Amino acid sequence: MKSGGRNVVVFYGSQTGTAEEFAARLAKEATRYGMKAMVADPEECDMEELSKLTEIENSIAVFAVATYGEGDPTDNAQEFYEWLQNGGADLTGLRFAVFALGNKTYEHYNKMGKYLDVRLEELGATRVYELGLGDDDANIEEDFITWKEKFWSSVCEQFDLQTGEEVSSRQYELISYDDDNTISDDKVFHGEVARLNSYANQKAPFDTKNPYLSPVLVNRNLYNSERNCLHIELGLTGSKLRYEAGDHVAVYPKNDTNLVERIGQLLEMDLNKVFALKNLDEDSSKKHPFPCPTSYKTALTFYTDITSTPRTHVLKEISEYATNEEDKAFLKKISSPTDEGKQLYAEWVIKNCRSIVHILEDLPSVKPPLDHLLELLPRLQPRYYSISSSPKLHPDSVHVTAVVVEYETGTNRVNKGVATNWLKAKLPGSDNGHKVLVPIFIRRSQFRLPAKPQTPVIMIGPGTGLAPFRGFIQERWHMRQSDKPVGDTILYFGCRKKSEDYLYEEELTKWVADGTLTKLYAAFSRDQNHKIYVTHLLKNNMKEIWNIIGDKEGHIYVCGYVDMDVVH
Ligand SMILES: Cc1cc2nc3c(=O)[nH]c(=O)nc-3n(C[C@H](O)[C@H](O)[C@H](O)COP(=O)(O)OP(=O)(O)OC[C@H]3O[C@@H](n4cnc5c(N)ncnc54)[C@H](O)[C@@H]3O)c2cc1C
Ligand SMILES: Cc1cc2nc3c(=O)[nH]c(=O)nc-3n(C[C@H](O)[C@H](O)[C@H](O)COP(=O)(O)O)c2cc1C
Repeated sequence: MKSGGRNVVVFYGSQTGTAEEFAARLAKEATRYGMKAMVADPEECDMEELSKLTEIENSIAVFAVATYGEGDPTDNAQEFYEWLQNGGADLTGLRFAVFALGNKTYEHYNKMGKYLDVRLEELGATRVYELGLGDDDANIEEDFITWKEKFWSSVCEQFDLQTGEEVSSRQYELISYDDDNTISDDKVFHGEVARLNSYANQKAPFDTKNPYLSPVLVNRNLYNSERNCLHIELGLTGSKLRYEAGDHVAVYPKNDTNLVERIGQLLEMDLNKVFALKNLDEDSSKKHPFPCPTSYKTALTFYTDITSTPRTHVLKEISEYATNEEDKAFLKKISSPTDEGKQLYAEWVIKNCRSIVHILEDLPSVKPPLDHLLELLPRLQPRYYSISSSPKLHPDSVHVTAVVVEYETGTNRVNKGVATNWLKAKLPGSDNGHKVLVPIFIRRSQFRLPAKPQTPVIMIGPGTGLAPFRGFIQERWHMRQSDKPVGDTILYFGCRKKSEDYLYEEELTKWVADGTLTKLYAAFSRDQNHKIYVTHLLKNNMKEIWNIIGDKEGHIYVCGYVDMDVVH
């Protein structure tokens, strides 16, 4: 850092990219205040060196950290977290600030950020600005821009810095391949997550950076209605992938071809062109925003998120390309951290679920170069699904139970969920005799049945919240087949109508009949005049619930959306 003349380092703890993106934005903005920053992944740094930052004049360590699971750190912050817990180091003189990313609906709201903020101070570091709390259940973008404006003001005041002009600078350099600068196709990425040709040459072990191309064995609709809930079975034979009931399977989806082509049309761009984006900061560990070289079509299809609502910095940067002054002024206003700007952003972008495609359609004079847009858009993330099978019954496949996302927006457009709509079309046998493949990896979870089979369990799983419990019930069915004593197994399920969206009705009925399920309580919210939800059934069964979890020391599990306020 010292040699590069930098005095700000922004660390991120990120699983799905938001904290990493916020870190990059903070680092980029530092130049505006005459500072020079770098972004750092704690997993790739020797955090023992943190104290050395004090040797650099006017230096600050900023942390953007998300919380996961039971208030746990992200994978890339795990080691750093353990280091802090095991004593850390004397950080006297280190100046720091923390922005926490979380979601208020979780019990351990922003636990990691809160812990880090307190722990750094305990180790002697000095807080330059108060902890920021971002709530992903509301408007985390607004939380972040509000916090960072105040953070920078405070830094300017403490370090006696002047606010400079806002400059829009590119982070990556464009390299175009054409007749003058050719590249052979075997050096071009075609959608692989990290390793070139990893899909053509599949090699175990398979994980997040090296997904397994799993064949779709079964794909059917579980609903008897217009809506879709997919039951998909993904093959594992030969992959060496193992799982436990309660684990998650992650799927790398593809964006809808129509949307990809629409962007090409709107920006008048030949999407077959091959290009690379190379980081202008040679010291950065992140050389490219996504695997490069690749074609624009592949970048839009596999690597960038083109369907969620873009963040304000994207709008600010593309405003520069508006040829219509009104469009330019509008984008500048909507991306500004003023009250008016925030309100407009919340209304025009968030409430109306406007994606980048919609924005380019609605503001046709805005035509950013596609490579700049690709630099700004977040990376397309894998989608996680609770595995709805048990390896005891299905060692060679994982089952997924997924509701297909489709909804109408405030601008009368129909938005379709990326992964679920892509999966919906993945029917076995639909690819001219070729196997229909889906890139996946397995993620371990802590969601487990009790170690002792005799321990009774209550499972509350409305809608697709049933998914992991189907795996649990299969597991308990298997134990009973081996004559193991198994405790009470009670399930609460809820959906709209018995005739339409009662998931796995046949299986559940069979498990009640053969005694695997001791009790099955099902709430059909729309089958009578008044609404009945699982929470109403829970309220009616307080005595039995207490008997299981209190007297018999059973376990209670909840998966999916359950408004527990109704129970209190
Ligand atoms: C650990 C874990 C386990 C999961 N398990 C399951 C599971 O078993 N089954 C399952 O179906 N899902 C599960 N999910 C959710 C799943 O990962 C995906 O988020 C979901 O399938 C949608 O993905 P998509 O790509 O189709 O939709 P996306 O393209 O990601 O679109 C979804 C987004 O659209 C927006 N949206 C959706 N509906 C509306 C609406 N009516 N109005 C406005 N905006 C809306 C929301 O912002 C939502 O986040 C799980 C998630 C996690 C983190
Ligand atoms: C499976 C899962 C578990 C989560 N657990 C928590 C939690 O315990 N506490 C919390 O405040 N937020 C929790 N969150 C919310 C994330 O921290 C939040 O969405 C954050 O913005 C993600 O940042 P990232 O994209 O950088 O990973 C959870 C999110 C998911 C998907």
